[in-house]
Amino acid sequence: NLGSKRVELEITDLAFDGKAVAHLDGKVVFLTGGLPGETVEAEITRTKPRYSEGVVHRILKASELRIPAICSHFGQCGGCTWQDLIYQQQLEFKKKQVTDCLQRIGGLMEVRIHDVVGSVELFNYRNKMEFSFHVTEDGGFTLGLHSRGRFDDIFDLDKCFLQSEVSNRIVHWVREFVERERIPVYDVKKHTGFMRFLMIRQAKRRSQLMVNIVTNYGEIPSREKLVRELTAAFPQITTIVHNQNGQKSNVATGEIETVLFGCGFIEERMFDGIFRIRANTFFQTNSIQTETLYRAAFEMLNPDKNDRVLDLYCGTGSIGILISHYVDHVTGVELVADAVEIARENAAVNNVQNITFYQGTVRDFLKKPQASETDHNIVIVDPPRAGLHPKALARIIKLKPKKILYISCNPATFARDAKELVTQGYRLPEVKPVDMFPHTMHIELVGVFHPD
Ligand SMILES: C[S@@+](CC[C@H](N)C(=O)[O-])C[C@H]1O[C@@H](n2cnc3c(N)ncnc32)[C@H](O)[C@@H]1O
Repeated sequence: NLGSKRVELEITDLAFDGKAVAHLDGKVVFLTGGLPGETVEAEITRTKPRYSEGVVHRILKASELRIPAICSHFGQCGGCTWQDLIYQQQLEFKKKQVTDCLQRIGGLMEVRIHDVVGSVELFNYRNKMEFSFHVTEDGGFTLGLHSRGRFDDIFDLDKCFLQSEVSNRIVHWVREFVERERIPVYDVKKHTGFMRFLMIRQAKRRSQLMVNIVTNYGEIPSREKLVRELTAAFPQITTIVHNQNGQKSNVATGEIETVLFGCGFIEERMFDGIFRIRANTFFQTNSIQTETLYRAAFEMLNPDKNDRVLDLYCGTGSIGILISHYVDHVTGVELVADAVEIARENAAVNNVQNITFYQGTVRDFLKKPQASETDHNIVIVDPPRAGLHPKALARIIKLKPKKILYISCNPATFARDAKELVTQGYRLPEVKPVDMFPHTMHIELVGVFHPD
């Protein structure tokens, strides 16, 4: 013991959320900081009946897998928790996470789990970053990213390595503009003030960049000046949009959108397709690695010309549009109306005629006669982190598809849903994990289920 709460611990493992695992007095301790194989000095910050939590203060014996992090915000930022771990080892931990989920949650011991396909780019891989405005106690404000483990604290960002250099310079420029023009910053506790988020979306395969300013209700003060000066300072900017969100929920999506400059969207190229991205619609954030993910998925699915495909949770239609060339027909289903509108535009831009889109929830769509009457024999699902709703899953099984392609950003919910599919007579021969988010513990995976 090194004091009342300071203890020397040996780290044995990493947990699902990237925390280090150690043991103290027969109880597990989840630590922020530290890598397996290390001896550390840590402070226990919370004690619960079944586990404790703590923070690493000093590394007493460092792991050979440790490397210096390149970012000056490392440790403070909630983003790249594994930047000090060699990349190959990050991939090993991610594979272990997938294996643990499939075995412990899914009870699936026989599935072949491929090695994780690493990201081509380790930095500057994101096409979208969201920066938050935050009122500080001294009456000032910050513009940047969330402090680690704190949803209520934003640190002033100098430089983030996950998006391009120009994105960092735009953050500095907007911060100075808001300060100079004395535009009030939104206070999440009091729900007063104006500036809420700055979002930057930048295509990787096209020279197009969107600045999206998210505010409380109202017009941006000095709006013309902002557009004139910002576009003069950054000729890379192809569109600027303003989104108003007067709701208490602290999200960077707007209820009212105004295009201040350019056409209001950017376009990204994937394979030979062109995809429009608007401020409020989902698009995979690592464009280059998305191609790797889709290639793995399509190879595993191996569709044929007579197949009729249901693309559930289709977003802006990218999967359905790309696969439409190899099958008879695709029906895309998506909840967000804006996304469906763009999905239809994307189909037209790419000259795809054998695709239709339905706006609404997957559960509601699957209740409709058109879901079963149109002979869909392949179902693709790419749900949010929560995975499939049990009713949606039951209705998918009722369609008796000959293949179900499941693309997941959460191995835990994938494993839960896989267990149900296997119980209902499907088998899952293999899964392929693909790393879309280096330096974070997130992992994407694909698997195809076949009837037994
Ligand atoms: C992980 S994204 C996948 C998007 C798309 N497949 C792609 O690769 O770009 C999940 C999508 O599901 C949509 N969504 C969430 N809940 C839904 C629901 N209950 N019914 C239909 N779509 C939903 C979200 O709006 C989002 O576009």
